[in-house]
Amino acid sequence: MKRKVAVLPGDGIGKEVMEGTMKVLSAVADRFGHTFEFHKGRIGGDAIDQDGMPLPDETLRICKESDAALLGAVGGPKWESLPGHLRPERGLLGIRKELGLFANLRPVTAFDSLLHASPLKPDRIKGVDMLIVRELTGGLYFGTPSERRNGGDEVVDTLHYTRSEIERIVEQGFEAASKRRQKLTSVDKANVLESSRMWREVVEEKAKAYPDVEVEHMLVDAAAMKMVQNPSHFDVIVTENLFGDILSDEASMITGSLGMLPSASLRSDGFGMYEPVHGSAPDIAGKNLANPLAMILSGAMMLKYSFEMHDEAEAIEKAVKEVLDAGYYTSDLANGSTKALGTDAMIKKVIYQ
Ligand code: NAI
Ligand code: MG
Repeated sequence: MKRKVAVLPGDGIGKEVMEGTMKVLSAVADRFGHTFEFHKGRIGGDAIDQDGMPLPDETLRICKESDAALLGAVGGPKWESLPGHLRPERGLLGIRKELGLFANLRPVTAFDSLLHASPLKPDRIKGVDMLIVRELTGGLYFGTPSERRNGGDEVVDTLHYTRSEIERIVEQGFEAASKRRQKLTSVDKANVLESSRMWREVVEEKAKAYPDVEVEHMLVDAAAMKMVQNPSHFDVIVTENLFGDILSDEASMITGSLGMLPSASLRSDGFGMYEPVHGSAPDIAGKNLANPLAMILSGAMMLKYSFEMHDEAEAIEKAVKEVLDAGYYTSDLANGSTKALGTDAMIKKVIYQ
């Protein structure tokens, strides 16, 4: 099969982990007889420097003409003093909104060979395999008005959702749960927020179409506690934008490093943008220290979710697991071991074992 992939490396370690991911995907294409055409676009600080804006039209055009997109990460100290609407992060929010990517899927897997790297107790996290389904284009991050009033002494942020926005993300949660262990935890703050009360109503309605899926409602503060106390409790979590952002960073500590967490941002027609959960990591950028596995595993998610290439995706996941099982880590996971591999060496291990 031939597939067009938009490649947006972005800034900092985004560039380094993207190079490796393209190599891994090309190796998979060779092995399975596919062709992946990579079309590069600029986003974030890289685009600010060259095009004067964080999300050029050309980048959106490349994405719209492709079957899926890969994104590295954006941001860095160089652009931090710019006004909000010109900052690299604006490119990221903009592309999610422009492409209608409302569903962010974040799998959290505790690899047996990485239990040492987590700050949580090994017996608590062993076997953890959960999926966080986060709403990505609504809620507080996109509500208007969002402004300062009364000479700067009063602030307003608006939490806005329509019923249909909630319905489509809740459906994604049920669909995912029905293909996994049939358990859905809907996270909200229904004791305080009106948006959460509508969220609960929608979950109850949708539950009728999925009689085999066990549904529970959990308040977000209780969910944050449960995530540390007993993360094995969760199969699929579905939640709104802000709660999902916070809970998924918390969950990253189960895997031991932000460098292990991939994600998919999807819309209903199969198009998706695939990106690691981590940022541009300016502290280690350009030093060949970045863990490329979150980006590589995001590439595997692209094969699975946008291209229906399940064997190909599993080949990548298996290679990653084997490399870790053989005791090879990047320095974020190595706990001081002298065996730590650089980014390039880790990529070669994944491709050639
Ligand atoms: P970050 O995720 O870039 O880094 C946090 C810490 O984790 C750093 O110590 C970093 O070295 C480490 N880390 C992250 N990814 C790693 C990897 N693959 N391998 C090894 N270590 C890794 O978050 P931070 O420092 O808060 O933000 C840096 C910049 O990235 C900021 O400009 C921020 O706005 C941006 N950012 C962008 C995101 C995106 O593009 N999706 C997401 C989060 C932050
Ligand atoms: Mg975040």
